[in-house]
Amino acid sequence: MDKLVIKGGKKLFGDIKVSGSKNSTLPILAATLLTDDKCVIRNVPKLRDTLTMIKLLRSLGKTVEYNNHTAIISGAANSSTAEYKLVSTMRGSFCVMGPLLSKFRHAKVSLPGGCVIGIRPVDLHIKGFKALGAAIEVEAGYVIAKARQLKGNLIYLGGIFGPSVLATGNVMMAASLALGETIIESAACEPEVEELSEFLIKMGAHIEGKGTTRLVVRGVKRLHGADYTIGPDRIEAGTFVLMAAATQSTLTIRNIKYAQLLVLVDRLEEAGVRFKKGKDSLTVIGPKKLKPVSVTTYPYPGFPTDLQAQFMALMAITPGVSVINDKVFPDRFIHIAELNRMGANIRRDSGVAVVEGVKTLFGAPVMASDLRASAALVLAGLVAKGKTEIHRIYHLERGYEDLEQKLKKVGAVIYREKE
Ligand code: EPZ
Repeated sequence: MDKLVIKGGKKLFGDIKVSGSKNSTLPILAATLLTDDKCVIRNVPKLRDTLTMIKLLRSLGKTVEYNNHTAIISGAANSSTAEYKLVSTMRGSFCVMGPLLSKFRHAKVSLPGGCVIGIRPVDLHIKGFKALGAAIEVEAGYVIAKARQLKGNLIYLGGIFGPSVLATGNVMMAASLALGETIIESAACEPEVEELSEFLIKMGAHIEGKGTTRLVVRGVKRLHGADYTIGPDRIEAGTFVLMAAATQSTLTIRNIKYAQLLVLVDRLEEAGVRFKKGKDSLTVIGPKKLKPVSVTTYPYPGFPTDLQAQFMALMAITPGVSVINDKVFPDRFIHIAELNRMGANIRRDSGVAVVEGVKTLFGAPVMASDLRASAALVLAGLVAKGKTEIHRIYHLERGYEDLEQKLKKVGAVIYREKE
């Protein structure tokens, strides 16, 4: 196993390119189960999670070739059971349930289990499948869904923490081959869900309201293959924006969709960061002095929970006090302990994180945990005095393609070492 070593204190410069969106890629790869025709998906980022999804598709009988960021998926799936050994390594694989149920009228998928950011329930997914007429059993850690024929319905899919990204995708995929019309109220409207709708429409699905909280899906008899290019990863882009701000750098991030980064730009302008917008790029001008800004995460277009840890790391070195609240995953604060080990001064106080900015962080051996907490530790390592060693970097490799190469290219002193 490798570890990442970072020597802090270097400014970044030049250009950094964002890869395809992990969270658009996963449900779109799952959606190829809805047809036996060939699908070509381009700009697929080379990540542990995308390779896991490709392995899962192969275990279901699909033929998958993956070269130079292009995945070609063809053939008929010959199983509707997604095994524990694959689903347990990546909860996102639960989004194969909708397509399998829709295509095979049967699906058996391992319950994804929890992870460090929360218990990760699937009750909204199950509520949606039941509304479409599926009989659901939960047995020995598997969710088993059966339906002679899925029928369209009006479904309210909002949960106590708001809409669910993957439940919206799962139910939309199940409804695409159901009989009649399905209305999904309180659908998630994240760009990744909008991309999934776009792909399904290219496959011949009838979906109205893409990118809104109300989706209308009219079931069709069959779906055909499609050729689709994945859009840029807004969370990777936001992570680089925050790294530029933290290292007081002028850095251009290429291959972005500005509209997806509005809330981050808005909060960082309040903190004193300046920006120059290009056609599909954003130049970040990190100031010498930052002002503390508090954020609360919400479903899109609110501040993304997937940038919360990285933003907290930035506030950890910003003089003054900021309060960070996560309304999507209220317990997503595992990164506090590791940041404090680097000299940050952050405490939990009745459910929120209170960050008292310190002048300096100090390099230390730290442990990666969830994907975005690990990115927060890389950001902290870039600004810390001395050397930071990040262990268990497979968490990072799940969602960031060639992170150390990209950062090295713009001036960071970062390299891998054997554990
Ligand atoms: C997606 O997860 C993303 N993953 C997550 O990104 C992201 O943090 C999350 O959406 C929120 O934006 C992928 O797309 C692969 P949710 P998802 O269902 O769909 C609760 C990353 O770092 N909920 O939108 O699993 C849930 O507990 C990952 O790339 C229910 O209550 O998240 C949470 O509080 C981490 N019942 C809230 O809804 C359900 O049935 C939002 O979760 C489902 C979810």
